[in-house]
Amino acid sequence: MAELVASVKGMNDILPPTSAAWQRVEAAARRVFTAYGYGEIRTPIVEHTELFARGIGESTDVVGKEMYTFTDRSDRSLTLRPEMTAGCARAYLEHGLAGSEPVTRWWYCGPMFRYERMQVGRYRQFWQIGAEAYGVAEPTIDAEQIAMLHALYTDLGVDGLTACINNVGAGEDRVRYRAALVAYFTPHVASLCGDCQRRLAQNPLRILDCKVPTCRAIAADAPQPVAYLADATRAHFDGMQAALAEMGIPFRLEPRLVRGLDYYTGTVFEIVSSSANLGAQTTVVGGGRYDGLIEQLGGPATPAFGFAFGVERALLAMGAAGVGAGTPPALFIATRGAAARQRATVLAQALRTAGFVVEVEHREVSMKAQLRRAEKLAATYVLAIGDDELAKNQGALRHMASRTEQPLASLSAADSAAIAQAIAVAR
Ligand code: HAM
Repeated sequence: MAELVASVKGMNDILPPTSAAWQRVEAAARRVFTAYGYGEIRTPIVEHTELFARGIGESTDVVGKEMYTFTDRSDRSLTLRPEMTAGCARAYLEHGLAGSEPVTRWWYCGPMFRYERMQVGRYRQFWQIGAEAYGVAEPTIDAEQIAMLHALYTDLGVDGLTACINNVGAGEDRVRYRAALVAYFTPHVASLCGDCQRRLAQNPLRILDCKVPTCRAIAADAPQPVAYLADATRAHFDGMQAALAEMGIPFRLEPRLVRGLDYYTGTVFEIVSSSANLGAQTTVVGGGRYDGLIEQLGGPATPAFGFAFGVERALLAMGAAGVGAGTPPALFIATRGAAARQRATVLAQALRTAGFVVEVEHREVSMKAQLRRAEKLAATYVLAIGDDELAKNQGALRHMASRTEQPLASLSAADSAAIAQAIAVAR
């Protein structure tokens, strides 16, 4: 026998009925985000590597260690997208929205790729649903997006979620905070890991995000960004919190939260879940303000705010609600013989047009096996078509739960309306 080829480690198939739970999350996101004025954007899965290096930052783990980068046949360095914010910013500029639209609101759903160590809730191909808003500097949009997530998760039946918020500062605040971090970490430099020694010169904020225990212990007493905020940034942060509080959105200040991507300025947030199903990956959503990214990618200064969440983690947080269930057929047509199968196929075609889920048994197997299959699929009705039924053009609709039968005066597709009526009545 030929050797089997397995899927790539950390990249999962999503099969029915699990895919039904995914569809539920996607449909809820589409419904909720549409209500807030967000339109869906779809971008390529592959982008030029430079976009992520410039957009997310060379010193981040995502760019430095986790990207799936390859050279294509024309010697271009391309990367499977590790996230969507950089790709959306590119699209925003490429399609000239900065000049033509004062406010742009997008949402997205798709697979992302990061070469990470595998854990429950952490994969190498994972799906993100996220949103980005461009053109609004005011703090109420920060609150509005967090409230939008709250509405989505409420719709999905997940409670017990808290938004952890912080403000990492912007412009001058950041310069002062950076200097404070350098002053704090420099005496500890010998105890920091090799990566953090490099980060100290490159981007000391990244040290706060290091997972190495000794670095974490040192970082525990590092200065916190909120202490370095200028009045305008502080007013923004207060404004966002006031709006969240008035909407009744649960949040708490998390002064150590910095996030792992370099483009954030000002507000950052993560939503954490207390669900035990999530293992160590308790962060369900991450996002924040990134007012410098569009300019950094060659566009005009444009305020922006966004977030993304992992669909796999959302499903884990949903617990039982995140387990998919198939759609049982309203009617299962059991058949015997080629002519019966053809009649069943034609009849089913007409009934599906009327909106019913109908499954036809096309294999020549025993009636007993066919009924067992109908039961397994949890079909509401079974209609058996064999030589007798064909000859008389009559049959019986068997209601599986009550084991009662209802005669059908015709099995012709032309009479499907009457059959549809019979199915609809008892459903
Ligand atoms: P992020 O925090 O890197 O942010 O990812 C957002 C979410 O994606 C995480 O909270 C988690 O739910 C999910 N996620 C990340 N990595 C994995 C993984 N390896 N396996 C499973 N799920 C994962 C961003 O990606 C930003 N682009 C969010 C954003 C949008 N900020 C502004 N706009």
